[in-house]
Amino acid sequence: MTTESSNPTIDSYLFEPVKLGPLSLPNRIVMAPLTRSRAKDGDVPSEIAIEYYTQRATAGLIIAEATQISPQGKGYVFTPGIYNNAQVQAWKRITDAVHAKGGHIFLQLWHVGRISHPTIQPDNALPVAPSAIKPEGQAYIDDGFVPLVTPRALETSEMAGIVEQYRTAAQHAKAAGFDGVEIHAANGYLLDQFLRDKTNQRTDQYGGSIENRVRLLLEVTEAVVGVWGGDRVGARISPLSGFGDIADSNPEPLFTYAVKQLNAFKLIYLHVIEGETGGTRDVPGGFDLQVLRREFDGLFMANNGYDKDLAQKTLAAKRADLIAFGRPFIANPDLVARLKKGATLAELDGATLYGGDAKGYTDYPSLEEETAR
Ligand code: PHB
Repeated sequence: MTTESSNPTIDSYLFEPVKLGPLSLPNRIVMAPLTRSRAKDGDVPSEIAIEYYTQRATAGLIIAEATQISPQGKGYVFTPGIYNNAQVQAWKRITDAVHAKGGHIFLQLWHVGRISHPTIQPDNALPVAPSAIKPEGQAYIDDGFVPLVTPRALETSEMAGIVEQYRTAAQHAKAAGFDGVEIHAANGYLLDQFLRDKTNQRTDQYGGSIENRVRLLLEVTEAVVGVWGGDRVGARISPLSGFGDIADSNPEPLFTYAVKQLNAFKLIYLHVIEGETGGTRDVPGGFDLQVLRREFDGLFMANNGYDKDLAQKTLAAKRADLIAFGRPFIANPDLVARLKKGATLAELDGATLYGGDAKGYTDYPSLEEETAR
């Protein structure tokens, strides 16, 4: 053990090693899942994603971008999938390359539910959701932005099939060489739509009471943990976020119950977006998310708007075990080294966030490359 590990200082917490189940992470800096919309036809991750992820392999853990578990789970053009062999093979090249650099990489399993559009659904079907409630907002399809539509409410008899989509995707992620998977239950997508009462108005066993609204998340978790074991599965939630036109009349008991129930599966981490996704950390009328840290038995991964100072203070105060950085990782492939040095962080270019090619994706220089220029 280094002196740092036994006696951390305010400058060292982020760089303390940590065990993530069977994995030994060299630091507590996680690359958050980031949609970059560069997949090719057939929802196959692009060739340049290999370089993109390996450039960022010094992160303690990479959580790869949200990835649809089925054609039905797709909500945007150019996002990757994990539902067929071509996708598995493409992901395998990415995970092999990250591992060759000493990195660790999880895949985020994603079903968008109602945040989709018939033009990107199989047979141009309506997107599915807990209830037929139209979200405010726009879908991004081949023709650009169009209004979201009223989804079709899933039949009770279809629910087992949704769970199967997650189970199969979890198996595919294993075949693709990932170190584990993250269940995406945040940001107003399918699992979050079931959790919250603004979007879930069902009258069957998947709606109504908190117990019923949490049911799908638990069934999905059971299936995914059945494939991977709990020590290679995390879950992401965003209890105070309205992203995706979502809300709950009483989120504290809902998410407290969900987290308590998740303990049965011995998940390795809980990944919590604090506040509004990509927005304010302080949501008026919100609750103290540390309640969830206290209830959860595994590691607590905090996310949203962290800089080095806030991250170090949060770890020092034991308010989290890991810190996930999203946007800073886009423009700073060597974010770990920059944070360690206290170097200035590069700003991301908003115009190249989604879609396109290497520009704004793999051409952000490391500090070394920048100074060599
Ligand atoms: C997005 O594509 O904008 C997106 C995807 C997944 C999220 C959040 C945002 O969890």
